[in-house]
Amino acid sequence: MKPYIVSVDGPAASGKGRIAKYISKKWKLKHLDSGMLYRRLAYILIKDNINIKNPKEIQVKLDKLNGISFRNNKYLRSQAVSKASSQIAIHSIVRLFINRVQNSFVKENLEYNRFVIDGRDIGSVVFKNANIKLYIDVEPEIRAKRRYKQLIDSGEKSIYQKILKDIILRDKKDKTRKNSPLTIPKGSVIINNNGNFIRTIKQLKCYLDN
Ligand code: CDP
Repeated sequence: MKPYIVSVDGPAASGKGRIAKYISKKWKLKHLDSGMLYRRLAYILIKDNINIKNPKEIQVKLDKLNGISFRNNKYLRSQAVSKASSQIAIHSIVRLFINRVQNSFVKENLEYNRFVIDGRDIGSVVFKNANIKLYIDVEPEIRAKRRYKQLIDSGEKSIYQKILKDIILRDKKDKTRKNSPLTIPKGSVIINNNGNFIRTIKQLKCYLDN
């Protein structure tokens, strides 16, 4: 049977992850956070001293990788890994590699048959035929405030103005890159996540309750 997929796309720190986790729990869908895969790969490349601007060097490492861990970890959310993940995301070899990992994840978990997958290009490229496509919209200043709080709570030193600057830069990189830029996928529902979470999840019900 064809898998049922809900895609959740949106810019940096828009709350895609929290919304996808909520959907996963409430409507019993298997969750995949594609950003975590980009972060994990960025972390591996930094650790191995690979020049992340050089696709050839990255390819050599990808050829040696057997797979990639799906596990989340605090260090994957550091500012350095965030920046590196959007730098590697511009390379088509990286995107092909991560897209393959995502497709395998769905194939290997077909017994669940229902998935919620969040990222930047899920409804537009990776799972173009997703059953429901959500696009999460939030002002950059609100995203920076939330990310600042997350980092402070996790013990990382941070400065609000720097986070805002990084978010705006990451938005620019994600929206203007040649390969799979961040766009509002055709046929998506725009979810406004500027306000509190209860207000956000109220907008989901009519699309997911059936
Ligand atoms: O949590 P946040 O929105 O800050 O980022 P993320 O979803 O964990 O993704 C980290 C980075 O990976 C993003 O800045 C994107 O550049 C890249 N990414 C992507 O290009 N395509 C995806 N499907 C997911 C993430």
